[in-house]
Amino acid sequence: MMKSEEMLKFGADEYDNELCDVSRSHYFEKSAGVVRSSRDLNIFLAHYKKYGPDKCYIYTGRGPSSVDMHLGHMVPFLVTVALQRALGVRVVVHLTDDEKFLFRAEHDLETYQDFAESNKRLIEKCGLDPKLTDIYIGSKDIARFYPTILKIQQRVNLNQVSAVFGFKGGDNIGKVAFPAYEMAPCDPRCLFSASDALNMRCLVVCAQDQDPFFRMVRDHSKALGFHKPSLLHLNYLPALDGSEKMSSTGATSAHRICLGDTPKQILKKTRRAFSGGQQTKEAQLELGADINVDIACIYMRFFMTDRVRYRELCYRYKSGLVMSGDVKNICAEMLRKMLEIFD
Ligand code: TRP
Repeated sequence: MMKSEEMLKFGADEYDNELCDVSRSHYFEKSAGVVRSSRDLNIFLAHYKKYGPDKCYIYTGRGPSSVDMHLGHMVPFLVTVALQRALGVRVVVHLTDDEKFLFRAEHDLETYQDFAESNKRLIEKCGLDPKLTDIYIGSKDIARFYPTILKIQQRVNLNQVSAVFGFKGGDNIGKVAFPAYEMAPCDPRCLFSASDALNMRCLVVCAQDQDPFFRMVRDHSKALGFHKPSLLHLNYLPALDGSEKMSSTGATSAHRICLGDTPKQILKKTRRAFSGGQQTKEAQLELGADINVDIACIYMRFFMTDRVRYRELCYRYKSGLVMSGDVKNICAEMLRKMLEIFD
């Protein structure tokens, strides 16, 4: 079964350019393939229209698994920046060092806390409005979320959480408790004053694999006294070798572009990326490239802001008029410019 069909099985709505009315950013064009599906997006947008930016906020997050971040980790933050610019709403970022400590346990807690601090500094450079943005660290800022965490934990039993997340008897007990930590920021009362939080709606921006947390909180939010969060599910950015998801694990960093990579490294890695072009110049001229599997093309589909240029380049590459090497050079230059903000 295709992944998107799986999502739709759990009742997600197929994305249909709903956000193009509020933002001209290419991230929201369905053809960019960045947004995958949503839940109650129209309810969030109608609420925004009726009550304005003060009654809406965006919640996103990241589990800090290393000092650096890679290009795939940027996607939810870049989408969030574009949405914040369009809507003028507050943004809450949750860095779950507690999650990585409990689930990965490759380092001690202090190391995950350091990762969270360094990831926070990188996220601050992504373009979020500092006046409208709060970044919280799981292990340090838990007090503000604790009342909601307790209320969620009281309502969900071990069978339910194990059915959704696959916990087994041998798992540490922190894992079992954790889902409530990720759900809690969907309750605006953790984040804002009582009067501000009143009638506030949350839009969660997350990768598709985070859906179970938010499906679960949606089941309980009415009883707990806040609106069900709406959701925007994003697609994964593929790795340089063409595999489905850019990953921070794995011995070599050859398959990922890191935010700390130098222009030279970016160019070198991009040149080795999986290509949809033909083996020889002659074959490329005759047959053209398969742009749907070509990693440089996919990265440009995700990130290139000049859509006219992007489409023209795809057309020329598909028709054999440009070579794979040229496309990779253009992609590397785009990535270099994107990552300049992290210097
Ligand atoms: N669990 C996410 C991860 O491992 C981090 C996260 C916490 C998150 N809260 C979130 C992601 C809210 C998206 C939205 O990366």
